[in-house]
Amino acid sequence: EMSIFALRVFWGILLCAPCRCSECPLGCECFAVSHTVKCVSKDLHSVPQNLPGYVRTVIITGNDIHQIGPDSFAQLENVTNVILSNNSITEMASHTFSSLANLRFLDLSGNRLALIHPEALYIPGSPLQELNLSRSLFNFTALTDLTTALRWGGLGGLLRLDLSGNHLALLPPGMFSHIPSLQQLLLTNNSLEAVYGGTFSGMDHLKVLDLTRNGFRTFRADALQELERLGNARIRLGDNPYSCSCEIHSFVEWLNRTRAQADTDDVKCASPGELANVRLRGLSVEAVGCVAPVLAEVADLTLQTSYVFLGLVLGFVGMVFLFVLYLNRKGMKKWITDMRDACQDVLEGYHYRYEIDSDPRLGQSFTADISYVYVFQ
Ligand SMILES: *[C@@H]1O[C@H](CO)[C@@H](O)[C@H](O)[C@H]1NC(C)=O
Ligand SMILES: *[C@@H]1O[C@H](CO)[C@@H](O)[C@H](O)[C@H]1NC(C)=O
Ligand SMILES: *[C@@H]1O[C@H](CO)[C@@H](O)[C@H](O)[C@H]1NC(C)=O
Ligand SMILES: *[C@@H]1O[C@H](CO)[C@@H](O)[C@H](O)[C@H]1NC(C)=O
Ligand SMILES: *[C@@H]1O[C@H](CO)[C@@H](O)[C@H](O)[C@H]1NC(C)=O
Ligand SMILES: *[C@@H]1O[C@H](CO)[C@@H](O)[C@H](O)[C@H]1NC(C)=O
Repeated sequence: EMSIFALRVFWGILLCAPCRCSECPLGCECFAVSHTVKCVSKDLHSVPQNLPGYVRTVIITGNDIHQIGPDSFAQLENVTNVILSNNSITEMASHTFSSLANLRFLDLSGNRLALIHPEALYIPGSPLQELNLSRSLFNFTALTDLTTALRWGGLGGLLRLDLSGNHLALLPPGMFSHIPSLQQLLLTNNSLEAVYGGTFSGMDHLKVLDLTRNGFRTFRADALQELERLGNARIRLGDNPYSCSCEIHSFVEWLNRTRAQADTDDVKCASPGELANVRLRGLSVEAVGCVAPVLAEVADLTLQTSYVFLGLVLGFVGMVFLFVLYLNRKGMKKWITDMRDACQDVLEGYHYRYEIDSDPRLGQSFTADISYVYVFQ
């Protein structure tokens, strides 16, 4: 048996060696036994043509290929894996992969996609199961292009999508709603700060959502609702700059009670300093600073109390005053009489002065002035 097997291998090598030479494109290595072609860091400017018919795995990495289109992969019906990472690809034309009827795994990571045709990812029969677009989107235009391409790509069979390391700051609502079978969505190492309602709509089979290494400071009520919609998916939320101020209170509450499988042990405060690295789950309302409004209420109450107290004191003082007056009513009478006498004296003094003032001899000049004015009128 062994000798027959050895003979087969020998004949295999003998038969395949020449065809390898004739069929393997320049700059590539072809491996018939593993059905693999590798074209690694060969400064290629386009996808090599005439790949051997047996190939199932195409690995073209570290080259300088700016554009890929339907001509790049013709007549490769048996190809299941295409790895095109680190090729500086900027443009992906319509129906680029549509002749790869059995393509399951497509790795476009580490490129600079700026132009993605709406039907760039379209393959009849939706064979694609895994798409790696890690570190591949060049700018915001690429994101909107991709959103359209996911919509028109007929990606009904896609199970895993890697969008990590793309500087994504927002996800258009419903971006994934045309990939209903998706089970793993990897969004790690982006710049996401918020999840809005509708972001994950239509994803009924998600098992893993990775939101680690983003810019989340908290999750607001609508975002939590969106996460809650994912049922019992595993949600990774660690490694974000959570700000443990009062606004995080509803997120803590959610972490406290959710049945979702979140990596709650990795969800930690980044700020303020005194809470740095403290786990969010189990934090109390007071710890996250929600006591501030409660304190204000207390202050308000104190103020009201002090007004009441002031009123009471004033009332008491007034009563004491009246009581003293009552006790001294005799003395008061005498005092009032004395005051009246004193006033009378003063008034008489005024009366006397008035009489002196109205003495005609003293008022002469005044009368003269009046007649003077009268004469000249
Ligand atoms: C694909 O594989 C099948 C079966 O292994 C084979 O018959 C066919 O010739 C292959 N296609 C090409 C283009 O080589
Ligand atoms: C692509 O480049 C990155 C960074 O230079 C490297 O980490 C990665 O391993 C490369 N990928 C492949 C498939 O060569
Ligand atoms: C996608 O590609 C990157 C870089 O080539 C790699 O690190 C990552 O593990 C890949 N993603 C998946 C889901 O395999
Ligand atoms: C993205 O890059 C492409 C190619 O450089 C450019 O045409 C496009 O205007 C850029 N979009 C944005 C929003 O900067
Ligand atoms: C995160 O993404 C940036 C840019 O996309 C990349 O340079 C960096 O290596 C990534 N970090 C990790 C830990 O993947
Ligand atoms: C979270 O749960 C802990 C006890 O497990 C409780 O003390 C804390 O008040 C809860 N936090 C919020 C915001 O509900």
